[in-house]
Amino acid sequence: MLEYEKNSLTEEIENLVKQYGSDRPALLQILQSVQRKHKYVSDFAQQEIARLLNIHPVEVYSVISFYSFICSVPKGRNIVRLCRTISCDMAGKENVESAVKRELGINFGETTSDKRITLEYTNCLGMCDQGPAMLVNDQVYTHLNPETAVNILNGIK
Ligand code: FES
Repeated sequence: MLEYEKNSLTEEIENLVKQYGSDRPALLQILQSVQRKHKYVSDFAQQEIARLLNIHPVEVYSVISFYSFICSVPKGRNIVRLCRTISCDMAGKENVESAVKRELGINFGETTSDKRITLEYTNCLGMCDQGPAMLVNDQVYTHLNPETAVNILNGIK
């Protein structure tokens, strides 16, 4: 990260501290704001938040790890989440899982090198009678098989 980028991030976090305060409840609001704007909370941002709130960086990191909507590394433009809960598992999730990994050349928890797709697991999406189910950004797809899942992936820009 370049020096001017660091300075502007520090300034941004200082403004968030002014806006939300520097007590415990402010931490989550500050993290959410940084996440919304930058799509992740970098190591530097974490250090600055810890410094300005006068808490240990481990505390900042532990809040980030707790909430799935906040992340410490940049993700892809699209997030694909495959349900890994039991009904989808029994409905053939494993075949879909292998097919999407093969198609994208990445494992779950990883992002394609062109930043097009991040692959993740999710817990039950409430579509248990229509599994295997997968969430692509905000859209749910059901009754998947390896072929339909790969077709969906190929349709994502
Ligand atoms: S178990 Fe997959 S949607 Fe419920």
